[in-house]
Amino acid sequence: MKINGTAYRTIWLAADGWGVEIIDQTRLPHEFVTVTLRSLEDAARAIKDMWVRGAPLIGATAAYGMALAARADASDVALRSAYAVLHATRPTAINLKWALDGMMAALLPVPVPERVGAAYARAAAIADEDVAINSAIGDHGLRLIERIWAERKAKGAERINVLTHCNAGWLATVDWGTAIAPIYKAFDAGLPIHVWVDETRPRNQGASLTARELNWHGVPHTVISDNTGGHLMQHGMVDLVIVGTDRTTRNGDVCNKIGTYLKALAAKDNGVPFAVALPSPTIDWTVADGLAEIPIEQRDPAEVTHIAGKAGNGAPATVQLTPDGSPAANYAFDVTPARLVTFLITERGSCPASRDGLAALFPEKAREYR
Ligand code: MRU
Repeated sequence: MKINGTAYRTIWLAADGWGVEIIDQTRLPHEFVTVTLRSLEDAARAIKDMWVRGAPLIGATAAYGMALAARADASDVALRSAYAVLHATRPTAINLKWALDGMMAALLPVPVPERVGAAYARAAAIADEDVAINSAIGDHGLRLIERIWAERKAKGAERINVLTHCNAGWLATVDWGTAIAPIYKAFDAGLPIHVWVDETRPRNQGASLTARELNWHGVPHTVISDNTGGHLMQHGMVDLVIVGTDRTTRNGDVCNKIGTYLKALAAKDNGVPFAVALPSPTIDWTVADGLAEIPIEQRDPAEVTHIAGKAGNGAPATVQLTPDGSPAANYAFDVTPARLVTFLITERGSCPASRDGLAALFPEKAREYR
């Protein structure tokens, strides 16, 4: 996507041809800073400390992390150790394991001297594939938005209101985004779209990243506190909810940023369609029951007790919200059961959130994981 007329992806090769450039997302929305990753340790830190985040981008960064590791030592032992380091960075997004498995499958059969070249090629392919997948999700999601807009327009509506949670835009992927890709395509097609952006405490990916992206692209949007969505839905002010996901089970249970479940409950109660946009690497075919089987990341309680932003003098500042001594808990994700999800939007089209729905779109996978 473009920032002030310049096209960016979220990860690309540095001018030296081997360093890996990323946008430090902890500095957004107030500063745009890029960082060059030059080692396995750099890549692992970038994922763990959320300089990059979002399931597809975590996967792409891990892939490049393997390439950086291979430059230092491309032996089987070293690659297996790099896999373990990267895999331990964040537990919930399955794209991380998917990308690492793909790298190992591409590298281990190759003679050691050829592995660095093979690693960069595979990482670039993973990044390019993510862009193509997300663009296709955007096209399928656009058709859904067009359908809902046609209904609303016939009833006299002047705009279509979409609510989203967290950041599943281009900053969470290599480009386009998942949940936000249909929104960009709808906006570019001239639809009168407006986005309600959940702030998404505690790290505020909605307020700082989704708002930043929509603002760069010129998409009308309004940032709301996380507790507002239910009220808006009760008053007919939300036509569609679209979110992303970090891991979706073969039965259609959706794990996503904490708070997603509450939005799905409110959507169900108010008859608002609840759509989840997901690239196929986010489907964990090995898992049936999301609540029982998906590991939920718990992060530093300081993300709850403190909040970062721009001070009155324009300088970055972090302030403490809670009294000294009050403990805090920081569950980063929750699981929305398939029964609350109206559609899954994948690169192969939309389907009901069910085993049969996913199996119809991905029959080869459904056969493999019966
Ligand atoms: O903790 P984060 O910022 O990595 O969480 C991101 C999300 O929950 C996104 O909704 C999800 O990864 C989908 S991104 C296309």
